[in-house]
Formats: sequence, structure tokens, C-alpha cells
Amino acid sequence: MIFDTHAHYDDDAFQEDREELLAGLEAAGIGTVVNIGASIASTRTTIELAEQYPFIYAAAGVHPSETAELDEEKMSWLEEMCARPKTVAVGEIGLDYHWDEPEREVQKRWFREQIRLALRVKLPIVVHSRDAARDTLDIIKEEKAAEAGGVIHCFSYGVEVAREYLDMGFYLGVGGVLTFKNAKKLREVVAYMPMDRLLLETDCPYMAPTPHRGERNSSLYLPLVVKAVSEIKGIPEEEVIAATEANARRMYRLV
Ligand code: NI
Repeated sequence: MIFDTHAHYDDDAFQEDREELLAGLEAAGIGTVVNIGASIASTRTTIELAEQYPFIYAAAGVHPSETAELDEEKMSWLEEMCARPKTVAVGEIGLDYHWDEPEREVQKRWFREQIRLALRVKLPIVVHSRDAARDTLDIIKEEKAAEAGGVIHCFSYGVEVAREYLDMGFYLGVGGVLTFKNAKKLREVVAYMPMDRLLLETDCPYMAPTPHRGERNSSLYLPLVVKAVSEIKGIPEEEVIAATEANARRMYRLV
């Protein structure tokens, strides 16, 4: 079944129909979801969601754009959350120079601290990196993050950067963007990368695939991404689903 490796079902966009939507996922072929924390508050709601639904797992972490809220005390709290039975990763963490806030030094500091946390608690990392290719790679190498392993989610760089991550053992997360007309660079990356490192993700409520671009996204649209991968790789859709599910289980250590 389809494994959605990156979702934000605790988001307000699902306030009206969250229960109904989640209850319908299995019948639609979605077997597992990892809900991703993006702040202290959303890490809390993510863990609540994971404790409520057997097929949902949690990632605990603070998104680069939210790192101004972090301090030592909140890092200790995050570490406690990493010990919860349904927590399978530290994330999403990283660098976002597109929004460029808070200042880069703050983002870098807490990216490093959260990588160190992942290494301490022995969980993989979920990395958010936007317009920050060089600094993300440098920090990942300097902090030896490859020992924790993990995924570069919503991968947005070219084949050269992809190769560096693949060489270190990381997975690449691919979602709705792959179906966009202007996604030539990502299609090249998918064509280039080995099938055993590709993860499916929604990043919902964002990043809905064509023809739903701009609408609220959910795991129900993932078959459109499966179809796009299947066309690029020249393999059947069932094979895309089976391979990406096995990859996700290996990466999140749910085997
Ligand atoms: Ni996300």
C-alpha cells in the first residue's frame, strides 16, 4: 500500500473533516502516514495524532522558519518526544533561505542542534532545504548526519546535489511537484536516482499535484504522483508503490 512519508494532518486546513478523511485512507490504498512536526506546537499535535491512529507515525522537530522559538528547554522537551513509542524521526529540520527568516545563523544553529539530537536518540532526520543547497550539504557533512540517515524532503535541487545525498545514503522525497509542467529538473532527478531511494510524500495540505494544483492536498492524491514516477521510470504503478513502501519502512525503521 502507499506510504505517505510526509504529511501535516494536524494543520488547520483539516479542521473540518480530519476524522472522515483519515478514516477513508485505507480504503483508498494509503497504508501508512508519517505526520511531521514543524514547530513545538505542531510536534505536540503530531504526537497526539499518532497516538490516536494506529497507521500514523510521528516526526518531532522544528522547521527552519520556526527556529526562533527554540531554546535549551524546548530542545529537552523535543528529546522527550523522541522517546515516545510512535516517534520515528527528527523533523522537519533544515534551512530555508527562500523565506530567509529567522536570520541564517539562527537557522544553522538549530539545524545543527537538531541533527545532534537525532544522532543521540538514533532516529533518522527529515530535512527541509530550500534555496540553501550548499549550506545544507556542508552542515550535514560537518555534523556527520549520514550516521542518522534520513530523507531530503520535497527535493528541489538538481542531479549534482542529488548524487551527493545519494552517495551519503540519504533518501529523496518526491511529491506533487513532479506532476507540474515546469518540473523538468525534478523529472531528471527521478530518472537518474535508483528506485530504492525514492520516497512518496504529500507535504499536505500543500503541494497538491496536477490537476489539483493550488487546492488542499491529501494522501488521496498520491496515486497521481505514483503515475508520474511510473512513467518516468518505465515500471508498473504497483512496482512504484511496493518499492517506495519498502524504502519508507527501511528509512523510518518500521520493518
Ligand atoms: Ni512539510
